[in-house]
Amino acid sequence: MAEATVTASAGRPHLRIEGAVKSFDGRVVVDVADLTLGGNPVEGLIGPNGAGKTTLMRMIMHSIKLDKGKVTFYPGDGSRGVAISSLPAHAMASLGVVKTNQVIQDFEKLTIWDSLLLAAARRREERPFRIFAEKRVWARNTAEIKCYLEEFPFANPYGFAKSAGEKKLLDILRCLLLRPKLLLLDEPTAGLPADVRDRVMQTIKKKAGDENVSVVIVEHDLNVIWTLSDYVHFMAEGSVLLQGDPAWIREHETVVEKYLGKGHVGH
Ligand SMILES: Nc1ncnc2c1ncn2[C@@H]1O[C@H](COP(=O)(O)OP(=O)(O)O)[C@@H](O)[C@H]1O
Ligand SMILES: [Mg+2]
Repeated sequence: MAEATVTASAGRPHLRIEGAVKSFDGRVVVDVADLTLGGNPVEGLIGPNGAGKTTLMRMIMHSIKLDKGKVTFYPGDGSRGVAISSLPAHAMASLGVVKTNQVIQDFEKLTIWDSLLLAAARRREERPFRIFAEKRVWARNTAEIKCYLEEFPFANPYGFAKSAGEKKLLDILRCLLLRPKLLLLDEPTAGLPADVRDRVMQTIKKKAGDENVSVVIVEHDLNVIWTLSDYVHFMAEGSVLLQGDPAWIREHETVVEKYLGKGHVGH
């Protein structure tokens, strides 16, 4: 199969990352010349430990400052790109760029229910005062939250998230309630039971397909990547070395050599 080229369609929300460099203690850990993320409904970002995947995602959300370079978000609705490198973090969610683990969650102070309600109130199209003032908005949001809670039950949704799995799930549901246009997931399934993991991923896949949300997943569980991704970026030593079709990536000799090991081919 020929190498797939980067084909970010104008109709999807996507990010363009140009000349983005980050060093820690004089060592370059991310050096991305020109990368488009979100050109397909679900994209995987894979690579060995320390490749720079988390750092790159944090650079996009600017919870880590870029040494140089720029990040532009294209909402995919025909409107012009927005340079997001200098935006304050809270403005990102209003634009529709959302990442799991982004907000420090106060799991001890907010119940699961309140946490979800707050996420619904913060989404792009809402003005926070309306959610409490207008019964209609309140009813719609509570119905939506109940729907999620039916599909993803918590031990006690009116209590606090306790286990690591509950916190993880709450984080993902909060992100979905924010109605993202572009959703970045950094190891979303670690710590989740297999059945919950599968349902979460199906929900995300459906949103990507039906609601035009562009999803980028960093995940070590490669079954998730091979099953769900429409396109895969392979990162190693701070740079994106290859991008293309999942079936092509998984058999590429560079990926096998630097990441998968010989045993993976054909499985
Ligand atoms: N805050 C930091 N200070 C120093 N080094 C860091 C910091 N964050 C990440 N690194 C280093 O940057 C490299 C890339 O890390 P990371 O982005 O977490 O990789 P990945 O998510 O692909 O496993 C690693 O060598 C890591 O040790
Ligand atoms: Mg990481």
